[in-house]
Amino acid sequence: MKKVILTGDRPTGRLHVGHYVGSLKERVRLQNTGEYDEIFIMIADAQALTDNADNPEKVRQNILQVALDYLACGLDPNKVHIFIQSMVPQLTELSFYYQNLVTVSRLQRNPTVKSEIQMRNFEASIPVGFFCYPISQAADITAFKATTVPAGEDQKPMIEQCCEIVHKFNSVYGETLVEPQIVLPQNAACLRLPGIDGKAKMSKSLGNCIYLSEEPEEIEKKVKSMFTDPNHLRVQDPGKVEGNPVFIYLDAFCRPEHFAEFWPEYQNLDEVKAHYQRGGLGDMKVKKFLNSVMQAELEPIRTRRKEWEQRLPEVVEILKEGSAYAEKTAAATLDEVRKAMRIDYFENGNLLK
Ligand code: TRP
Repeated sequence: MKKVILTGDRPTGRLHVGHYVGSLKERVRLQNTGEYDEIFIMIADAQALTDNADNPEKVRQNILQVALDYLACGLDPNKVHIFIQSMVPQLTELSFYYQNLVTVSRLQRNPTVKSEIQMRNFEASIPVGFFCYPISQAADITAFKATTVPAGEDQKPMIEQCCEIVHKFNSVYGETLVEPQIVLPQNAACLRLPGIDGKAKMSKSLGNCIYLSEEPEEIEKKVKSMFTDPNHLRVQDPGKVEGNPVFIYLDAFCRPEHFAEFWPEYQNLDEVKAHYQRGGLGDMKVKKFLNSVMQAELEPIRTRRKEWEQRLPEVVEILKEGSAYAEKTAAATLDEVRKAMRIDYFENGNLLK
């Protein structure tokens, strides 16, 4: 069986370091293994519209921003097809058929949808499209027969629901679709990077993000303002490492070679943690190191982003070609789907049979 990746992001804002460690970095790694026959990276504008129906301009503006973030992280248009969801109308058709294979109560139980409804205060007025987006996401994945979905932990319930739809489709209409697997980052700190304020999730609306496109001074300001252990008041006090955002970020970003370069007093992160826990290591010193680490990681991304910003017509061309290729691929799957469902009426005089 072919090995195919599909994943994507809603274009509702620039991407941040939470996206980076949670999924983008993994995509670039998988791209460079050369083990995948095809890789599709989708800018999910139609999904973004499910909770931004009154603000299509915001979605439109962010399509190029997200594309720039992708290219900046090292996704290579020669190796991956980057495309725009709404440019592949087959996804809508497929969703329409899948809607009949899913119950309302199953959608209501989807934990990600549940928490997003709460976060958006949608309780009394959930847009139907938003409520059904797990179905549309199953269409996104299966239209490309994706075997692998590198995504953040919050996407796990989506993949589970997608597998249920595949299973149902195949058992009702015959073996046609492929069940995907989610690929999560291996490092626990990357699974859910907290915001700089220590809140559970980095999110634009909470204003606690460090963006991939951020300038060095801004990164430094944000790192220095990070929430740490609130009980670590004086340098000599013992500090807590667990749940301390500064250390979670270090777990996510710091590599052994950073010590020789930026903090030769220590050999590795365990030594820093031990000292912090013992007492005698001030937050500012740790933040200074974290800042150096973050600057080193984000500098090449920012530089590449600026280069691509000078070549926007090329970026548009990449999206256009990617979308045309994605449409061709999805159309082939839709032919199979219609055939399996026996709604391919005009093929070979089928309607007369
Ligand atoms: N739900 C994803 C997000 O919030 C975006 C997305 C849409 C997606 N379709 C997908 C992710 C298919 C993985 C696979 O960012």
